[in-house]
Amino acid sequence: MSNQNTAAPEHEQTTKPKTVKFEVLRQDKSDSPSYWEKFEVPYRPNMNVISALMEIRRNPVNSDGKKSTPISWDMNCLEEVCGACSMVINGRPRQSCTALVDQFVQPIKLEPMKTFPVVRDLIVDREFMFDSLKKIKAWVPIDGTYDLGDGPRMPERKRQWAYELSKCMTCGVCLDACPNVNDKTNFIGPALLSQVRLFNTHPTGAMNKDERLDALMTDGGIAECGNSQNCVVACPKGIPLTTSIAAMNRATNIHMFKNFFGSDHMVD
Ligand code: SF4
Ligand code: FES
Repeated sequence: MSNQNTAAPEHEQTTKPKTVKFEVLRQDKSDSPSYWEKFEVPYRPNMNVISALMEIRRNPVNSDGKKSTPISWDMNCLEEVCGACSMVINGRPRQSCTALVDQFVQPIKLEPMKTFPVVRDLIVDREFMFDSLKKIKAWVPIDGTYDLGDGPRMPERKRQWAYELSKCMTCGVCLDACPNVNDKTNFIGPALLSQVRLFNTHPTGAMNKDERLDALMTDGGIAECGNSQNCVVACPKGIPLTTSIAAMNRATNIHMFKNFFGSDHMVD
């Protein structure tokens, strides 16, 4: 009789496939109630939140073993450039495409951003931001019926400075982090204030400087900022939002005095 030990080696007994646990705040329609649902997906090294959501979509079975529906979320560039995949991960708004699961305490909680209306699950409607971009004329008007030629050259140092502000991807994270962007106010939010600074500094964009400052001095403009400074910490692009807001505070004050005392509003 053989006395050979037939039990599995210790490492086979204790090593279970590694998984990642998620809790997702779901909502079937824009007007239906939200509910939490738990999922567990097989771990892969370097997986991000989007690849985990794709795994759930392939096999939408929740942690109770019940068949569920695929989770809806938004994405586009997958390299933190478009801002579409923004959601709240473990309580903090950020992009899910650059959120590696190894960085988070589990269960990883996924919620839609609270500042915007929910379309479904993790998809929100950021139309408010795009409407605000129209309100502040966030563009340089160069369209014409004839060739306008090259635009004015900008000093390299200024161009590099402007490039930093132009990195804004309208992701909405700074609005979600701001306590003053809520359903009680029309505050357009920090990103939009910074965009006014960008376009007003552009040599051609400065032609519409006064209109943009006028827009900032209306309902929902700069007076709604409470200086909580959450925005500058939250921005994934490192945009100096509070510096921009301070600059726009100065610019609107000067603009107000010019309006009050009379000025020819020369573009400077
Ligand atoms: S300023 Fe930053 S956080 Fe705000 S919308 Fe732009 S990229 Fe997103
Ligand atoms: S998919 Fe574009 S920022 Fe994440």
